[in-house]
Amino acid sequence: MSDVFVVVTAAGSGTRLGFDRPKALVELSGQPLVVRAVNGAFTHPEVVGIVVTAPEDSLTEFTVLFDADQRVRVVPGGAVRQESVYRGLEAIPDLANDLNIALTDTTPVLIHDAARCLAPTTVFHDVVAALDAGYPAVIPALPVTDTQKTVASRQVNVNGITIEKVIGAVDRTELRAVQTPQGFHWQTIINAHRDATHRWGSETEAATDDGALVEACGIDVHLSRGSQMSLKITTKLDLIIAEHLLTHQ
Ligand code: CTP
Ligand code: MG
Repeated sequence: MSDVFVVVTAAGSGTRLGFDRPKALVELSGQPLVVRAVNGAFTHPEVVGIVVTAPEDSLTEFTVLFDADQRVRVVPGGAVRQESVYRGLEAIPDLANDLNIALTDTTPVLIHDAARCLAPTTVFHDVVAALDAGYPAVIPALPVTDTQKTVASRQVNVNGITIEKVIGAVDRTELRAVQTPQGFHWQTIINAHRDATHRWGSETEAATDDGALVEACGIDVHLSRGSQMSLKITTKLDLIIAEHLLTHQ
């Protein structure tokens, strides 16, 4: 049995969802997304501790949600997701220490978006199993179902509509859409984030995916099987779909 730590990223504002509070506090069937994401991660029996990144100005609201649970620590996130993850990772050694759990170079650390709060236990299980088998970076992903095109960067406006010129096609059998929880050995992911923070000064260059930071270090990243249940709640339509999935599964 491994001891697994998780960073649940929940420090985003949820601009595209359009509520008057952070997305992770929005309720899905009566429970905030962040609570669902944390409970979902704890359904994996080896998960021992979770760091939640929260928006700096909503720290109290997030903290009270987990006050009674020593296994959960809430920390302020950053301006972009990459920075939030880094701050979450930096809080893991302290949490491990307080829980009396040894953190080793290969301890599995998962990074999971609160916005993917319906990710099933099987997905967590597969990621952890591959990490335990010695792979340092494992990401759940699904094949892409729509045909893909590449387009010219210049858009054209014609009679009030915007059109784009197709310049090529992509073989979709080679494509995968990646999800979270993304799993890494502790040393692999903390080093990748430290390197990236030193390499990239500005927020515009920040990565939206932790696997990319590990790839940039020249370490192989592998994919495990994702799930349609792990959809990312980004817009109101996603929230409606998630509500439906929850009540009809
Ligand atoms: N996130 C974070 N810190 C940030 C930005 C995002 O921890 N500075 C988290 C979000 O809370 C979310 C995940 O990263 O769980 C994926 O981000 P996204 O779906 O883009 O959420 P938001 O940034 O909140 O939404 P939007 O981009 O519409 O504002
Ligand atoms: Mg965002």
